[in-house]
Amino acid sequence: MPAVPPNVRGAVITGWGTALPPKVLTNFDLEQMFDTSNDWIVERTGIHQRHVGGTTVGLSVESGRAALDMSGVDPATIDALVLATTTPDRMVPGSAAAVQNELGLRCGSYDVNAACSGFVYALVQGHGMVAMGAKKVLVIGTDTLARITDWTDRNTAILFADGSGAVVIEAVDGPGQLVSWDLDADGSAERFLYADIGANIHMDGKEVFRRAVRIMVDSGTKSMNHAGVTADDIALVVPHQANIRIIQAACDRLGIPIERAATVLHRTGNTSSASVPLALADALDAGRVNKGDLVLLVGFGAGMTAASAVLRWGGE
Ligand code: ACO
Repeated sequence: MPAVPPNVRGAVITGWGTALPPKVLTNFDLEQMFDTSNDWIVERTGIHQRHVGGTTVGLSVESGRAALDMSGVDPATIDALVLATTTPDRMVPGSAAAVQNELGLRCGSYDVNAACSGFVYALVQGHGMVAMGAKKVLVIGTDTLARITDWTDRNTAILFADGSGAVVIEAVDGPGQLVSWDLDADGSAERFLYADIGANIHMDGKEVFRRAVRIMVDSGTKSMNHAGVTADDIALVVPHQANIRIIQAACDRLGIPIERAATVLHRTGNTSSASVPLALADALDAGRVNKGDLVLLVGFGAGMTAASAVLRWGGE
């Protein structure tokens, strides 16, 4: 997949927002639900607690509104809403339409399902729309995985959770922030992680772990190569928040010190489409990104999908 061609109208992020349901489930709560321990979960995943509850529409409205408020953009002037989610509230219609209505947007609105890679897929699409003439796009990543988690299955219930993150991107003169991107999928690996309609998530954790590291490294390397940059140039990597050991292994192989990774999974668990924007927002709020910094977003998920992008913060 390409570096962004020259002379294409770019965009920059001008606002961001997050939403987490108020209910917190700690590892100690899980100890009461099935045979596990706080020590095991922390050591094997890095997760201490997760938020559960809410709906995909409700959480998206909350994060989307926060992003709009921060950007100062009039909701009626948003040209498109792209909502990444694996867990829509209904089969039909997509959840984006209800979010559009509640936020007072007047634009095309649709869902994207690329599992945990979804937010990066949606962000790349948003930039594509700006290149084709849109001026302002709202991109949201939301999942309510608690609704499709078997809360008696210690293999999956320790990982999954609910949340939402959103960004407003606005057109700028010149190339903008997106330097390069890579979107990938390998449908032959579907059997390792899936949920049938109306059923809970099934996962072969060991196989997902093995593949996750490989495809994050592969996708992240492609985006850096397309951008003509190396690991040393990356000021912040924002990985999918699945397991701290996956993040550590991927960072090691990418040659990026773990200190340069954004992590929130210790307090959020794996929120799928929301995990990259939640981690990005956390790093931005902490002042970890300065104008001109290169930020590498890299996700993987069911499919199995992968997605990465190199952003130059604030644009050229
Ligand atoms: N508590 C206590 N013990 C447990 C638990 C638990 N929750 N789960 C498994 N065990 C036991 C096992 O039974 C096993 O015992 P044994 O050695 O006596 O047989 C032992 O702990 C080790 O089990 P493993 O499965 O080998 O543990 P592993 O280190 O692989 O960790 C985990 C499991 C955390 C699921 C890991 O494989 C993982 O994170 N995989 C990736 C999952 C992932 O990222 N999924 C999301 C993808 S993104 C998306 O699209 C949603």
